[in-house]
Amino acid sequence: MPNEYICALDIGTTKICVLIAEVDENNELKIIGVGTAPSEGLRRGVVINLEKTIHAIKKARLEAERMANVEVRAVYAGIAGDHIRSLNGRGVVAVSGDHNTISVDDKRRVIEAAKAVALPFDREIIHIIPQEFIVDDQRGIDDPVGMSGMRLEAEVHIVTCAVTAAQNIWRSIEGAGMTVMDLVLEPLASSYSVLTEDEKSLGVVVLDLGGGTTDIALFCEKAIRHTAIVSLGGRNVTNDLAHGLRTPVENAEKIKVAHGAAILTDSDKDAFVEVPGIGGRAAQRVPKSMLVDIIQPRMEEILTLAARELNKSDYIKMMTTGAVLTGGGSMIPGTVELAEEIFQMPIKLGIPQGIQSVSEEVNKPIHATGVGLLLYGHQNDTLIDGPFESEAHVFEKIVERMKRWFGGGSH
Ligand SMILES: Nc1ncnc2c1ncn2[C@@H]1O[C@H](COP(=O)(O)OP(=O)(O)OP(=O)(O)O)[C@@H](O)[C@H]1O
Ligand SMILES: [Mg+2]
Repeated sequence: MPNEYICALDIGTTKICVLIAEVDENNELKIIGVGTAPSEGLRRGVVINLEKTIHAIKKARLEAERMANVEVRAVYAGIAGDHIRSLNGRGVVAVSGDHNTISVDDKRRVIEAAKAVALPFDREIIHIIPQEFIVDDQRGIDDPVGMSGMRLEAEVHIVTCAVTAAQNIWRSIEGAGMTVMDLVLEPLASSYSVLTEDEKSLGVVVLDLGGGTTDIALFCEKAIRHTAIVSLGGRNVTNDLAHGLRTPVENAEKIKVAHGAAILTDSDKDAFVEVPGIGGRAAQRVPKSMLVDIIQPRMEEILTLAARELNKSDYIKMMTTGAVLTGGGSMIPGTVELAEEIFQMPIKLGIPQGIQSVSEEVNKPIHATGVGLLLYGHQNDTLIDGPFESEAHVFEKIVERMKRWFGGGSH
């Protein structure tokens, strides 16, 4: 694929989405193709049925390609699920550059040293995100290259995944006739589309309420500090409605999207909603308050578990700007208000920013990950693994990474 196009693939539990963007003459992105397909081959972000996933990717790809009128070859893909773990690492090296000047190579070596943590054989690192560098006890350095010093330390955030989960995503994408540019942790991708630089500096939480999982990521002082996951999402809300209203899941989903609410507003107190009957039965009218009675406890549970995960991090005190809610699950009216009560902090809805689009469709929280993947791809992971000046470099890195997953090369 020529460099002037970037393609993102969001493989979610409920939907698979392909976004194609072109890079204009001002080096800005414009989305020119959007394709979505329902996803059936995944459970909680993990591929459980390769064939169904490949089929859905192909469908989304075709739709996006038709709209954009370009062909897609390589994609930035998201990865999430309850197999993701994160930990903090630290590395130290002696500065080897001339006149004690820290070189790019020193920076690369110290990051290598920081990632030398003992990993079980079934896990692999997907991101190593430098948080800060320390030069001779001077802390808080963003980029040490060019500074003088004798001793260089790095503190990094390491995100790992189950090798098999990543392999299956890789295989699904290859099976759909595309190659992987990079696999990006989904909440990290979302942070590119819904967070401002100020928020990332001051401290903010991203909460991606998806269909199968709720992903949590903490940012402060410009870096990701903590990631966690709750294995519940919008699909649980739909299932509760299906049970509560005794209606098929597809119906429950439609009712949720059209009439669902997490909080009962005054104007809705006496409102009724039409629920189609099943098996030839007559449609029933149910009070809106009944929908809220079903939806609210589940949303409360999801948000409370997320808040509990957050409180496990030492960084929670630094979340001064509050939390940003994204993902399709956050689109139920009243979710922001409910989250404010539970988190006791300011909450806003994360609408993707920083990108133009020919389709209004993408200006919704449900596309935060996809749009974020495009922005991540555009910035070409300078954040990760130290500097990679050219695309060839990035590719080398990915290919190396993948080779190891598939048993070539050594750890
Ligand atoms: N307008 C809407 N109102 C309420 N809920 C919605 C709306 N649109 C989508 N949803 C819900 O959002 C959820 C899907 O969100 P999203 O697409 O972000 O998840 P995903 O990426 O497929 O899953 P995951 O990230 O967990 O793997 C579904 O449960 C769906 O019911
Ligand atoms: Mg998602």
